[in-house]
Amino acid sequence: MSERKKSAEVDIKTMRLYTATDRVLNDLRQETGWSEHASKPLSVDVLNRYDQYHYHGTQAVEEAAQLIDLTCADIVLDAGAGVGGTSRYLAAKYGCKVLAVEFQPDVNETSARLTRACEMGAKVTHLCGDFVEMFGTPQGDYTSAQEKVLKENGFQVGSFTVIFTFLVVLHIVDKAATFQSFYNALQSGSGRLVIEDFYQIRALSEVETETLADEVYCEKLTSIAQYTQDLQSAGFIDVQVTDLTASWTEFTSSRCHMFEEKMERHRRVYGPHVADGLLRFYKAVSTLFSEGALGGLRVTARKP
Ligand SMILES: C[S@@+](CC[C@H](N)C(=O)[O-])C[C@H]1O[C@@H](n2cnc3c(N)ncnc32)[C@H](O)[C@@H]1O
Repeated sequence: MSERKKSAEVDIKTMRLYTATDRVLNDLRQETGWSEHASKPLSVDVLNRYDQYHYHGTQAVEEAAQLIDLTCADIVLDAGAGVGGTSRYLAAKYGCKVLAVEFQPDVNETSARLTRACEMGAKVTHLCGDFVEMFGTPQGDYTSAQEKVLKENGFQVGSFTVIFTFLVVLHIVDKAATFQSFYNALQSGSGRLVIEDFYQIRALSEVETETLADEVYCEKLTSIAQYTQDLQSAGFIDVQVTDLTASWTEFTSSRCHMFEEKMERHRRVYGPHVADGLLRFYKAVSTLFSEGALGGLRVTARKP
């Protein structure tokens, strides 16, 4: 395992969203009475209420899918899949094949477990790894275990027609390498990329910089102009940016208030450590948006 991968796995656990990766299972059990021993498959619709680790849930995924004219013929890479919410939504709604790549082993395991519970394994494949390393070169650079999974499922670098990557790039310092890996992973001529991400609106104070690094695991953000330029430098064309800042400022603020109102429930269901950590994380993000430091964007782009 490379040094980059090893340190990234450990460090991202400082982000309070990821201290308890089975939180989604606790929500399911508590709110729906779900058990892994149930005789019926878990409904993707029901699960989608709890497995979306970005803003505005499946509505955001649906809007993006429509923007890029997703169809059942598409082969999708969900880069930084989290617990797999985007992957399962797209596979269930559109019937496309999805590769969900997630580098935290426990998050990936929970994600794969949920896909099995939904009996979606024929459409959604899970792979633990760092997509920047895997698709960083035009030939691809995989461990033998990763290569086996890719081969068995007919995936390879340059074979994806679509990449979805929601709230992931913000965690990665090397934006150029990240965008290059997206470019390599996509098919020439028909490859479409859709990103939802943070951007930096203004210079950050020392406290804001520290909060972003410590609470959000985010050490480098760029402006919208730089974001567009970095994608173009990687070779992307038709780069279209939508500014989502107003809606994300409202979303992060109401998420924080709603969570705080139900702290008794959250401490009971997730445990006090996880619940308190989540509240702290939600407060930090909401403050960064409301103070005008952070912006939100959706980008679509094409590989020529
Ligand atoms: C905020 S979550 C979003 C998850 C998912 N995209 C969603 O919208 O529900 C970001 C995820 O990206 C993963 N991630 C970050 N960098 C990655 C990389 N280079 N390769 C694979 N996964 C990565 C993190 O481990 C985390 O699970």
